[in-house]
Amino acid sequence: MRTAADFNLYYAAPDPWHISHARFRDKVLRRCLKRIIRNKSVLELGCGEGHLTHAIFGKARSVVGIDISDVAIARAKSLNLPNARFESADFLQASFQGYDVIAAIECVYYLSLEERGAFLEKVAKEHAGKILLLSGPIVDYRRHFGHKRLMHEFTTLGFVPLRFYNLSVYWHPPSSKIIANLIKLPLGHKLLDWMPESMIYQRLYALRAPKAS
Ligand SMILES: C[S@@+](CC[C@H](N)C(=O)[O-])C[C@H]1O[C@@H](n2cnc3c(N)ncnc32)[C@H](O)[C@@H]1O
Repeated sequence: MRTAADFNLYYAAPDPWHISHARFRDKVLRRCLKRIIRNKSVLELGCGEGHLTHAIFGKARSVVGIDISDVAIARAKSLNLPNARFESADFLQASFQGYDVIAAIECVYYLSLEERGAFLEKVAKEHAGKILLLSGPIVDYRRHFGHKRLMHEFTTLGFVPLRFYNLSVYWHPPSSKIIANLIKLPLGHKLLDWMPESMIYQRLYALRAPKAS
């Protein structure tokens, strides 16, 4: 796992991943999550500077955003979002108890395979029977974030995959670039669900954590 100091270095300048420009991702996430989060209490892990807290979780009843970078959290706090509060912490050390939904958008792939196992076990224990949203690039460049591997891990630990949503496509080769531009046209996002897995870059999983035994 990277440390707070590592992530603070990323945040030396605002918006290191150009998240505020990812409007298409915001639009797709908003559509996917509208019903799941409306009037719910949400724990948003790896919330960074609060971009998604504002753009996606505004309809939640309440949001607690956690990020390991205190630099990012200071920026998130300065947004003064009426339904949110922010804390600087390593989410592996934070309590997951007492929320309707846990959202881990684009942050779990920083964990090692062992840490991810520990993370999912913690969700199973402290968030039993409730919803976990988890997203990331479904590529095996870190050797452990491929779709098959994730599904295997989810089901082995007793998570029930409710649905997955494709969020974005690759920009290479040039044929993919054409598709990437096509899906940005009005209603183009509907094509996302029909695309072959080999074209998909980021995917969001909605999972139900195993019920307490
Ligand atoms: C790529 S950014 C994604 C930000 C936001 N979730 C989004 O998708 O727009 C990943 C964020 O996860 C945070 N992060 C990574 N590991 C973390 C951990 N163990 N505990 C808390 N935050 C973590 C980083 O500081 C960073 O802000």
